[in-house]
Amino acid sequence: MVDLHDSAFLKAARGEAVPHTPVWFMRQAGRSLPEYLKVREGVAMLDACADPDLIVEITLQPVRRYGVDAAIFFSDIVLPLKAVGVDLDIVPGVGPVVAEPVRTLADVEAIPDLTPDRIPFITAAVQGLVGELASVNGGTPLIGFAGAPFTVASYLVEGGPSKEHAKTKALMFSAPEVWDALMRKIAGISAAFLRTQVAAGASAIQLFDSWAGALTPADYVRYVQPHSARVLAEMAELGVPRIHFGVGTANLLDVMGEAGADVVGVDWRTPLDRAIGVVGDRGVQGNLDPTLVFAPTEVMTARAAEVIEAGRAAKSHIFNLGHGVIPSTDPDQLARLTEFVQAYPLA
Ligand code: CP3
Repeated sequence: MVDLHDSAFLKAARGEAVPHTPVWFMRQAGRSLPEYLKVREGVAMLDACADPDLIVEITLQPVRRYGVDAAIFFSDIVLPLKAVGVDLDIVPGVGPVVAEPVRTLADVEAIPDLTPDRIPFITAAVQGLVGELASVNGGTPLIGFAGAPFTVASYLVEGGPSKEHAKTKALMFSAPEVWDALMRKIAGISAAFLRTQVAAGASAIQLFDSWAGALTPADYVRYVQPHSARVLAEMAELGVPRIHFGVGTANLLDVMGEAGADVVGVDWRTPLDRAIGVVGDRGVQGNLDPTLVFAPTEVMTARAAEVIEAGRAAKSHIFNLGHGVIPSTDPDQLARLTEFVQAYPLA
């Protein structure tokens, strides 16, 4: 077994000095890759997420192609809900759709907790991946992930993707006891999903609170932070570094850090230097605007250099896009970007 402990990604995730700026991309596996489209032909997203061989192959595709410093487990934030029996689907081009949205205490109590016996394919896939990744590019760490309680709650309460998250926030404001029960339920499910991945060999985790930017700092602290904090505290006990990411979170980076994060993920709208000023003694991850891949390569790499230079002020910096890879992205641009970041001289 190769010792991954000294990989650039894990060093940065722990806040240690690195041999080069590590880089990976949120949604690096997926529709921008022709090899992904090929293996997904005729296979529904949630079926792919339950097939260990497909999970291994899809997770490895971007690692082979780009030589990124970390793999991210191929799954989805709603997979654990599906695993406990929530009637939902991932509709292509739309996202997760829940058949019977959750609105009452009875609805919450009807959702079972997640136990490892419901996700044997996750354990099998992670174990298979960790075995394969040990010999890819001298050893590549695997990032496990889960959705944070607020973001997962939004899909459950709205019944699908939402811009305003109005029903979710209405429940939060008007029925605090239902909200609390829902957030506890999801926190337990997300923690169990992460524990399974770490037990099988994932060496870091990312908690996605993609839609937390819909909240004021005061509401985040009151209604959301304790539940995300519980998930992240459990991961600290397992000894894996934790990345905590959301979109549109310029006003929340301090409190998301305080929820528990070794590294705070920064979306592309927030200047990295400003983010570094508020996250305290933590690393940062990010945050090139994902549309820069559509610019000429020199424009993209010049902007990447600005991100790396800004990142020097942080305790540590993991390079990433400021949100997921856009499906129409040219993979060759991401290959050039990866090479540029890894070759960029350290200060
Ligand atoms: O490479 C990776 O980042 C790992 C795989 C991954 C997926 N979803 C695969 C996926 C991860 C980490 C996620 C997390 C996820 N899922 C989030 C948080 C990250 C973020 O983007 O903010 C959210 C909000 C979801 C919910 C979700 N699932 C959305 C919004 C969508 C896209 C809908 C669409 O078709 O545009 C999905 C589906 C999904 N999850 C796809 C993939 C590769 C596309 C499905 C397909 O290829 O048919």
